[in-house]
Amino acid sequence: MSLIDDARRVRENAHAPYSGFKVGAALRTAAGGVFSGCNVENVAYPEGTCAEAGAIAAMVAAGEAGIVEILVMADGEVPITPCGGCRQKIAEFGAPDTVIILANTQEELGRTTLAELLPGSFTPAHLGGVR
Ligand code: THU
Repeated sequence: MSLIDDARRVRENAHAPYSGFKVGAALRTAAGGVFSGCNVENVAYPEGTCAEAGAIAAMVAAGEAGIVEILVMADGEVPITPCGGCRQKIAEFGAPDTVIILANTQEELGRTTLAELLPGSFTPAHLGGVR
């Protein structure tokens, strides 16, 4: 399955009763693994989690890392981009050239990179290689 198909499928399961804004995400790792996630909101609003966080958690649970590309999907004409916190989460397992694909439920709307979305990011290298 393609990333867009995976994101579309999991987005249907998003739990977004408060915002009404369903998001799906699907990523591919260097090893070829594909993982997906949806946003999961909570009545205690700050406890909600983004779709990207779900996909990353599934990747880590499967013992993988190394995000080569990640697609983020909402419904609308304006492309959704990962929120600031998710950019940092992607950076933990990605690289400056990690591709971020922006899509709605119909089609891909654009592509960018992590370097473009999170320039000058705080990385594990700043901890002196501790990981
Ligand atoms: N959301 C995501 O899942 N990913 C993003 O990158 C942006 C926002 C979710 C969080 C919340 O459930 C809803 O979209 C509205 O902000």
